[in-house]
Parts: sequence; C-alpha cells; structure tokens
Amino acid sequence: MKPISIDLELPINSYSIHIDQSWEGLNKAIKPFIGHKAMVVTDENVDELFSRDIDFILKSIGSQVTLAVVKPGEDSKSLKTAESLYTQALKNGLDRSSAIIALGGGVVGDLAGFIAATYMRGINYVQIPTTLLAQVDSSVGGKVAVNHPLAKNIIGSFYQPKSVYINIDTLKSLPDRQFSTGMAELIKYGFIWDSEFLIWLQKNIDRIMERQEEALAYAIGCCCRTKAHIVSQDEREKGLRTILNFGHTIGHGLESLTNYKLYTHGEAVALGMVYESSIAYQMGLVDRSMLDLLIWFLEKANLPTEIHGVDTESLMRAMAHDKKNKDDSIVFVLPVGTGKVDVFNNLDIKLVHEVFKESPKNYSIDN
Ligand code: GLY
Repeated sequence: MKPISIDLELPINSYSIHIDQSWEGLNKAIKPFIGHKAMVVTDENVDELFSRDIDFILKSIGSQVTLAVVKPGEDSKSLKTAESLYTQALKNGLDRSSAIIALGGGVVGDLAGFIAATYMRGINYVQIPTTLLAQVDSSVGGKVAVNHPLAKNIIGSFYQPKSVYINIDTLKSLPDRQFSTGMAELIKYGFIWDSEFLIWLQKNIDRIMERQEEALAYAIGCCCRTKAHIVSQDEREKGLRTILNFGHTIGHGLESLTNYKLYTHGEAVALGMVYESSIAYQMGLVDRSMLDLLIWFLEKANLPTEIHGVDTESLMRAMAHDKKNKDDSIVFVLPVGTGKVDVFNNLDIKLVHEVFKESPKNYSIDN
C-alpha cells in the first residue's frame, strides 16, 4: 500500500495522521516532536509485541527512552496509575521539552494523553495506536482522560497529539474479539457521515474481516478523514462532534450497567446503534432498509445486535447519568437517513422504553 497522510486542521496545534503498513515512516512522522527524553506508555500485551521496535526507532532519533508498562484493561485508566507514571517521568528527568509516546489501544492512548496534558502543565505527545478501535477513532481528536470510581472518562481534557502514526501491520496480532470491537466504530463512521463509504464497505467487508492490508488502509483512511473533518469544525464538542456518539447513549448505559465486564466498548456501541436506529425507525426518521443494512454489517463483523437479560428501568437510569446529557434530558444521536444522523434532546421516554420490548430484527423483517 501507498502510505496515506491526513491533515487535521485546527486554529492552533494542527497535526497529521500517517497510515502505513510498517514502522518505516515512524521516525520522520514523530522526530520533530520528540525531545532528548521520551517516555513510552504501553501495556503488558503491547509491550511484548512492539516496544522493542519503538525503542529502536526512538534511539535512532537520539532520544533517551523510558518505558512505562501498565496492566492491560480499563482499570489502568485511574489517577493511581497516573500518579505512578508522573513518578516515573520525574525520576527519569522528563522536562518540558520531553515527550510521551502512547503505544497501544484506547486505554493507553487516553491515559498517556492525560499524563502529557498535565505533566508540567502539558508536554508533547504522539499517538501510535495498535488496535482497530484506536486507529479509527480514539487516537484522533485529542480526548484524554482517566476514570473516577463513580464515572468513566470524567477527569480529562481536550489535548491534541502532535502526530498520529498508524501501522496497520499491528492489527495482524489483534485478537478477533478486539478486531470486531473496532469494527463497530468503523461501521459507525459510515452511518454518521459517509454513505459512499457504506457502499464501498458492503462490497469489501469480507476483505476487511480477513484483514487484507489494502482494504484496511482504505477503510481506516476514510474514518480518520471523517473524524479529522468533524474535529476540525468542533474540537471541544460544542455541536457537530456530538454525532460521533451515535450508539453511545445506549452503549455507555449498557457498559456501566454491566460494570464494563459483559461487553467490549464496540459491542456495546453496536447494540446502541441498533436500538437507537430502532427508535429512529419508530419515529419515522428512517425506513427499515437502514436498520436492515446496519444489522447486516454488524453481523458480518461478528458483533451482537440484540440485548438480552437487561432490565430496561436500570438501563434508562444508567443512560440518565451520561455526562453528555443536558438539563436532565437524555441526549440521543439518531439516524435520519443512511449516512446521516442528528442530535435529539427531548425524546419521548415512553418510546425509548418500547424499543427494548421487542427485538429490532422484528422491525427489520420486510413483509
Ligand atoms: N470518540 C468520540 C470523540 O472523539 O469525540
């Protein structure tokens, strides 16, 4: 594949997203932003696979490297882990000219970005995402955070990386369930913005699931281009950026209700997109073909499309706690066509209750 470069334009702190299938272009993509000292933040799984490659490249840049390895999983996105990383940064003499390298998936990206945003009031960081979810979504756009015991992602900031380097070769070693979780966000980009991408994806989803490089690079490029466009219009989620939360109102509710143990993020978002589309169908915003197509994509990606065994009242309560809600009403992003969504603040709660009573597949059967 030919390397792809996408610019994310902002009033200050614009940066590039590089997509390649090796580490060959990494040196050039990050060198201007790495000082004499850098701290690579990664988790135990990714450390085994890629830390040696990155260490070698950073040393060739002339940077003295410290490796900080955290436990894999959401529990590492905590102030406690953050404190241990500040300690490691201080002990290794990182200063304002040093940099943080986030090497891993969404957890590592959010945590490392948070450290970069707050250490000495902010130092450079670059994102090297190694999961599909991080490559199509979380590594781009500068959302950095750690969790509070009472709420996810509640301590954080918008703090943009200096560069994002995506090596799609890293996806070869990604477990199938993690690959599917990234597919939920990838499919989301088609439904929120890009009907042309959906047409392409219909023809190419098998190639993507087989992890063929050309197809992956094209799809990841489409998602990053859309995200770059949306973030450049609305960096701090005052308006347009909210549409990136399609599937997330119900998805976050499901995740929090099941203590982040039952579903991966992408599985919860997949279910959220199906049920939010069912709401849209009930409201007459979309026809059944939209819902059929969404379910078809998610099944192809081995993602769930039906919620079982969840108490609707508890789910509604969990959704009511989402930090995106305004003035006590639950904010929903709903499809209004195939490849187009809108934000709704005041939905009829009875209608929302109703969609959980029946399988969305029943709406989607043409008769
Ligand atoms: N992951 C959604 C956003 O970056 O806004």
